[in-house]
Amino acid sequence: METMECILTRRSIRSFIPDKEIAEETMRQLMEAVRWAPSWANTQTWEVVVVKDRDLKQKLVDAAGANRAAQAILDACAVMVFCSRRGIAGAKQGEYSTNKGDWYMFDCALAAQNFCLAAHSMGLGTVYIGRFEHRQVDTLLGLPQGIESVVMIPLGYPAVKEVKAPPRKASSEFVHAERFGRRYFEG
Ligand SMILES: Cc1cc2nc3c(=O)[nH]c(=O)nc-3n(C[C@H](O)[C@H](O)[C@H](O)COP(=O)(O)O)c2cc1C
Repeated sequence: METMECILTRRSIRSFIPDKEIAEETMRQLMEAVRWAPSWANTQTWEVVVVKDRDLKQKLVDAAGANRAAQAILDACAVMVFCSRRGIAGAKQGEYSTNKGDWYMFDCALAAQNFCLAAHSMGLGTVYIGRFEHRQVDTLLGLPQGIESVVMIPLGYPAVKEVKAPPRKASSEFVHAERFGRRYFEG
C-alpha cells in the first residue's frame, strides 16, 4: 500500500473478528516497523508487552473502565501495551535539554504510529486506548521501576468493512505562514 493511502485510510478499529490468530511472521514484521521508528538521540525508550491471555485481557478491560474500545481488547488477537522508559529521552547527563521535560511519550507515540500504519497496510486493524488506569496496568504487567505503560493497542482482523472517518480540521485552520495567525492556505 502506498504511504499516503495508508495514512489517509487508517481508521480506529473497535470491532474485530474474535481471537482470529495473526501469524508470527506478521508480528515480527510489525515489530520491525516499531524498531525503525525515530527517537530522541536514538534512545528507543519503548517496550512492548504482547497480551494474549484471556484473563489478563479481561483485567486490561477492567483497567480501561467505561471505554468505547473495551470490547476490542477482548476480541483482539493480541493487545500491545506500549510502554516507555522514563528519564532518558530529552535528557543529557540527568538534565532535560528542553522545556518539554521527558520526551518518553513522544518517542513511544512515534513507534506506536509506525505499528498502527504497518498493521493497516497488512489488512489488520488497531485502535489506541489511552484512557485507562495506567498504574493498575503497570502492576498487572509487572513493569519495573522507571518503565510506564502509555497506550494499549488491540490488534486484530477488522470485523467491519468500512469505518466512517471522524471529520478533520481543514489544513487552512492549523497551518500558519511565518507567524501564528496568518493563514498559509486559503479556503
Ligand atoms: C493518544 C490517543 C488515545 C486514544 N484513546 C482512546 C481511547 O481510550 N478509547 C477509544 O475508543 N479511542 C481512543 N483513541 C482513538 C481516537 O478516538 C481516534 O483516533 C480519533 O477519534 C480519530 O479517529 P480515527 O483514528 O479513526 O482517524 C485514542 C487516540 C489517541 C491518538
